[in-house]
Amino acid sequence: MDIRSVGVVGAGQMGNGIAHVMALAGYEVLLNDLDKETLDAALERIARNMDRQVRGGKVSEQDKEAALARIKTTLELTDLGRCDLIIEAATEREEIKQKIFDTLLPHLKPETILTSNTSSISITRLASRTDRPERFMGFHFMNPVPVMQLVELIRGIATDEATFQACKAVVDRLGKTAASAEDFPAFIVNRILMPMINEAVYTLYEGVGSVQSIDQSMKLGANHPMGPLELADFIGLDTCLAIMNVLHDGLADTKYRPCPLLTKYVEAGWLGRKTKRGFYDYR
Ligand code: CAA
Repeated sequence: MDIRSVGVVGAGQMGNGIAHVMALAGYEVLLNDLDKETLDAALERIARNMDRQVRGGKVSEQDKEAALARIKTTLELTDLGRCDLIIEAATEREEIKQKIFDTLLPHLKPETILTSNTSSISITRLASRTDRPERFMGFHFMNPVPVMQLVELIRGIATDEATFQACKAVVDRLGKTAASAEDFPAFIVNRILMPMINEAVYTLYEGVGSVQSIDQSMKLGANHPMGPLELADFIGLDTCLAIMNVLHDGLADTKYRPCPLLTKYVEAGWLGRKTKRGFYDYR
């Protein structure tokens, strides 16, 4: 099917990045969230991030203005019913995603493809509760969306080939690279990345190294662009913990046991950059 318009549910860290890249690639974007402040902040963030790309010579001023004009916002989730492709990028909680799909479904065109940017929840389970499991799949971007090259495309057990190919064509048009992943807990990137981050937290918890020495070791010793604790703060410690719990529950192996220190930070509300406190202090 010919995808021209994209509805993005959730204007947070991932949602505003998705709206940004979709608009730059020429799609009409309808961005939804629960309150006007979040939507206004998302539009500001998108403009600021596009300015960075203009300064870096990656985007022209003219393309930036055209892209910004292609992004519309709405507080009414049901307005997204007119879009050809929906990407749900709401909070990583299954009951929230479920409620969003339940609200949207009666308003969708029959041919609309429904996707979730979930980083770990079962695509098959989310799809099974909709009216279109064959046109449902995982569309998982990496953070920061405008910079990271990869998109994981995850087929649920019922996803049909036409849906996969339509989503793959969107990824191609974004100039990004699609990796096809099967629907098992946390897919590919987070299956590998999160246990490494969790192990870094254990390394801190057991006193093997300080926050600084752990991050420096992985930056200079393994050529990672960010240390694992800095990266955990960037992703959000609540998200890291949620993904570890999905791995632990889904694969029933103690090697995925979330580090108690990670749990404690989340309980304290120290969620990383977004709360200005995590392994580092951003206040
Ligand atoms: N929008 C647009 N451009 C951005 C941007 C954004 N949000 N963030 C950074 N950039 C641009 C900068 O403007 C800069 O552009 P130029 O090269 O043209 O100057 C370039 O990206 C590099 O940025 P910086 O110079 O500010 O800083 P840096 O070199 O330290 O790079 C980084 C920042 C890209 C975030 C880098 O540290 C990095 O790649 N970190 C690792 C990120 C990562 O691993 N992400 C995956 C997380 S896992 C995930 O997302 C999956 C999940 O489900 C949890």
